[in-house]
Amino acid sequence: MLREVAKFANSFSFDSVLLPQDLALNRAWAEALRNIGILSRTEEQKIVRGLDRIGRAGRSGRAAHSGDWEDVHSYVEITLHKLIGDAAKKLHTGKSRNDQVATDLRMYVIDRLTVLDRALSGAMRSLLVLADRNVKVIFPSYTHLRQAQPVLFAHIALAYFSMLKRDRTGLGNVFCLADELPLGSAAVGGTAYAVDRKLLARRLGFSRISSNSIDAVGDRDFVIQFHAWGAQLMAHLSRISEDLILWSSDEWGFIQLPAEYCTGSSLLPQKLNPDVLELIRGKTARVVGNAVQSLALVKGLPTSYSRDLQEDKESLFSTAETVESCLKLISGLLGGLRVDARRSVAAMSKGFVLATDLADALVERGVPFREAHGAVSAMVRWCIENDRGMKEVPEAVLREISTRLDRRLVQGLSLEASVRRRSNIGGTSPSEVRRQIREARKDLLKG
Ligand code: ARG
Repeated sequence: MLREVAKFANSFSFDSVLLPQDLALNRAWAEALRNIGILSRTEEQKIVRGLDRIGRAGRSGRAAHSGDWEDVHSYVEITLHKLIGDAAKKLHTGKSRNDQVATDLRMYVIDRLTVLDRALSGAMRSLLVLADRNVKVIFPSYTHLRQAQPVLFAHIALAYFSMLKRDRTGLGNVFCLADELPLGSAAVGGTAYAVDRKLLARRLGFSRISSNSIDAVGDRDFVIQFHAWGAQLMAHLSRISEDLILWSSDEWGFIQLPAEYCTGSSLLPQKLNPDVLELIRGKTARVVGNAVQSLALVKGLPTSYSRDLQEDKESLFSTAETVESCLKLISGLLGGLRVDARRSVAAMSKGFVLATDLADALVERGVPFREAHGAVSAMVRWCIENDRGMKEVPEAVLREISTRLDRRLVQGLSLEASVRRRSNIGGTSPSEVRRQIREARKDLLKG
């Protein structure tokens, strides 16, 4: 092989991440080969001890960085031979790097999902604490980034919780997809040895084994779904970040980000920049890009294994690391968030957010909703033209707009009454939001 080709094809610089998985796989395979008499007990013991030594060297950072191997699988094979001699030569009986890499990768995904599930529930817990602390704070809700109706800030925190709850369900689905053992498929046609695949699955922590060797070596659906899940989750974190960036800006000032999650400017002394949130939003692009790359990778591949699949790793590792760090950071940041109820309420002082409630009050007086809507919208237009709040409209103007409108009706409106009225399931009333928090807490415990 040309030196350039060897360099071009080498993947050890990144797939050495899979060393723990590859060692575990080889230990289980040695046991399987011993069970069918290919390895003697002594040979198996020698192999396992050798693999353990490679593992210790790997953990302490003493593993070689490059050498005569192309990837993590040949690294293990070659190093084991150096350590224990000829017994190592028997270990690759009946397996291929094709079923090996597919197995390692599934083990990696399962391991990461376990860690990510903890990080995700951590973020969900932070949201519940935030909701609990702000259960009385009234905030404007927005559609089209224009003020719509008053809501409790806790209700917004619970909206974020709902997004992450879906991500937690999605995580379970990806886990389920990855939880299938390809080992025993060999290169493509299946192994010619009577190894006990069910035992292998148990040893490596899988609950199912693959049923078609051709598919098993070429299937990367679990990788793609991991990416799709990660991209969806990051899109959620990115939208949450965008909200928090806007609301903590000088113009809004509804919330304060914890200073330890912000950075100053090298030039402007007054700045406290929301860099962590901006980076979460920015890193979302990387994760979305990785997801697209993973799909593009398999699009034109013939069925079963092709070397293209070596390119599935860096993006997978990058997404796993990025999602984990973003979840941890946003959890911490949410924990230190302060909401300034005075400013969020002051921002609604014109009272337009109560327009729907006024229309509803007219409905109560027997006005059909469409007409009520027209009257209140005329009233708001008058307010904008005359730079007045809803409660400052003179009686005469009200009478002119609608005979059913009067100041008493308008004066009766309040932010508190508005949120209290929305007590149907999923609404923003304090009692309903408290119920949602209790429900969410139960969900989180259920896991
Ligand atoms: N490094 C390869 C990968 O990551 C391992 C499998 C190589 N198989 C082969 N037949 N060349 O996909």
